[in-house]
Amino acid sequence: MSIHKEVKKITTHTLQKMKAAGEKISMITAYDFSFAQIFDAAGIDVILVGDSASNVMAGNETTLPITMEQMIYHAQSVVRGINRCLVVVDMPFGSYQGNSKEALNNAIRIMKETGGHSVKLEGGEQEVESIKRIVNSGVPVMGHLGLTPQSIYKFGTYTVRAIEEIEAQQLKKDALLLQEAGCFAIVLEKIPASLAAEVSASLQIPTIGIGAGNKCDGQVLVMHDMLGINTEFKPRFLRQYLNMHEQITGALQHYIKDVKSMDFPNELEQY
Ligand code: KIV
Repeated sequence: MSIHKEVKKITTHTLQKMKAAGEKISMITAYDFSFAQIFDAAGIDVILVGDSASNVMAGNETTLPITMEQMIYHAQSVVRGINRCLVVVDMPFGSYQGNSKEALNNAIRIMKETGGHSVKLEGGEQEVESIKRIVNSGVPVMGHLGLTPQSIYKFGTYTVRAIEEIEAQQLKKDALLLQEAGCFAIVLEKIPASLAAEVSASLQIPTIGIGAGNKCDGQVLVMHDMLGINTEFKPRFLRQYLNMHEQITGALQHYIKDVKSMDFPNELEQY
């Protein structure tokens, strides 16, 4: 008999059951081993290896420049740190749009090389063919509607989406199409709370909101925003749970002072 306690792993089916039971799903982004380890041990349900790595890890202005190789590197690091949560890996810009065969190849490559459990891609109707092809190969797909940052140059701004009736109608249609195509969940980013509530109630699969109100079936935040590593990004939807920027700055200033004054290392901290 094994002395190890069996860990109950979160799967796409667990998320489905959580929606059915009315239990909310917690999701956060992570991009490396150490934070993934902390988040998993803290009890997070889902880690998203977001293409927001392009912004918060690489310092790019948009998510567009990040490559397959870079996403794979981040996802591999995250997967090494987790034990029980579900890992979703973003498909980077250019890896799936407009070519379902290439989309399938890239989704399979992500799964094979990272050990992640699913992929996420942005867009509605126009991505249905790719989603069906990926899902049919056995790879779970999370959709992403509303503000889709990979289309920033089409939108021109990061403001709230689907305020106009015509866009709201399209979003509702897209959500149903993604469900029919086989998505196991859909991220709803920066849309009116009332619309997100309506979409969430109309779907069998869970919705995960970011700036979409509390009627979604779960919530996601970018770790750098919620931990206060970034201090300049302060949208209304963001709740900052820590001020790591301030705490790290304080620790670093203390360390610099100790080095300069030769307080560090002391006798006990040397050989
Ligand atoms: O890349 C990302 O971090 C995301 C979340 C904002 C949902 O897609």
